[in-house]
Amino acid sequence: HSSRLVLGIETSCDETGAAVLDETGQILGESLHSQKEVHLRTGGIIPTVAQQLHRENIERVVHEALQRSNVDADQLSAVATTVKPGLALSLGIGLEFSQRFVRKHNKPFIPIHHMEAHALTVRMLQPVAFPFLVLLVSGGHSLLAVARGVDDFLLLGHTLDEAPGDTLDKVARRLSLIKHPQCSTLSGGQAIELLAKDGDRTRFRFRTPMGQTHNCCFSFAGLRNQVTMAIMKKEAEEGIRQGSLLSCVNDIAAATQHTIASHLAKRTHRAILFCKANSLLPERNPTLVLSGGVASNQYIRKALSIVTEMTGLHLLCPPAKFCTDNGVMIAWNGVERLREGKGILPPDVDVFYEPK
Ligand code: KG4
Ligand code: ZN
Repeated sequence: HSSRLVLGIETSCDETGAAVLDETGQILGESLHSQKEVHLRTGGIIPTVAQQLHRENIERVVHEALQRSNVDADQLSAVATTVKPGLALSLGIGLEFSQRFVRKHNKPFIPIHHMEAHALTVRMLQPVAFPFLVLLVSGGHSLLAVARGVDDFLLLGHTLDEAPGDTLDKVARRLSLIKHPQCSTLSGGQAIELLAKDGDRTRFRFRTPMGQTHNCCFSFAGLRNQVTMAIMKKEAEEGIRQGSLLSCVNDIAAATQHTIASHLAKRTHRAILFCKANSLLPERNPTLVLSGGVASNQYIRKALSIVTEMTGLHLLCPPAKFCTDNGVMIAWNGVERLREGKGILPPDVDVFYEPK
């Protein structure tokens, strides 16, 4: 192979992922083991369970990725692995494995920031020049940043409490949507998007968070509280016990989804105006990149497309497969760093994970 090859390894949350990419961003082989079903059954991620599942799968996943790419470990130019942020116990498995691997094969090691990887994935799929604005929304993250270079991000806002995917998952759990015939195998966010299609979003009214706060941060805990109160009120009215399905799940789903979309859109609008006022984005073809698990929500995409249309930005959203956690985005981040010679360590350097 003439191009340099990078192996990427991801274990920051509940996906064990590995992939081999060449320097052009071509995916030579990948493997992904998702723990989602297990965590759906236990009603949320139990860190020790996630750790154990990473431990059981990491070796196989990495070897599958190498095998599918028809690449020997010795042909790799570097190994890139997520070291932050994420669940400490999960990060530890990927990092331990990687450190043993790079020492055994005498390969350079590239520690990866999970959010940097999410933000850069789009550049693997199409040419997107720096700087661009990025909104990352998932079960673990919520942030707005200007990507100015491979390792140069200006953070404009982040969540002050929980991430929007976490809120959707918790609301779905409180509504016992797993018992809903259409939703038994769906994540909270997917269940709410599906049910909201047949819901009337005006039957419940939730306040959009942080209406009076003049920054680009997010908050979702207050919304979750409002939704919980509304659910409790309905349960009392209908004489329904917690854990049974309410008749108005579609309307609650629609109102919750709408409020999250509205909050994300308003904060992003604010960030765009800030970027314009401070000339942080190029005049030609300014771009908003939307990514993360929640970005696969069509209603939320639509809300953001209204904002970008109104402000003359170009909206880019990678396909769902690349919005969620995987080894490919980590390998791509490794490629970007390798090309620029940034943050590449010799195999014998001790690297530590950082949960935050
Ligand atoms: O990026 P991801 O796979 O994992 C991390 O959290 O890093 O995102 C998972 C999150 C979950 O909270 C899930 O409920 C949410 O993304 N999600 C959605 C949709 N699909 C997944 N949220 C809203 N609408 C969706 N269609
Ligand atoms: Zn992620």
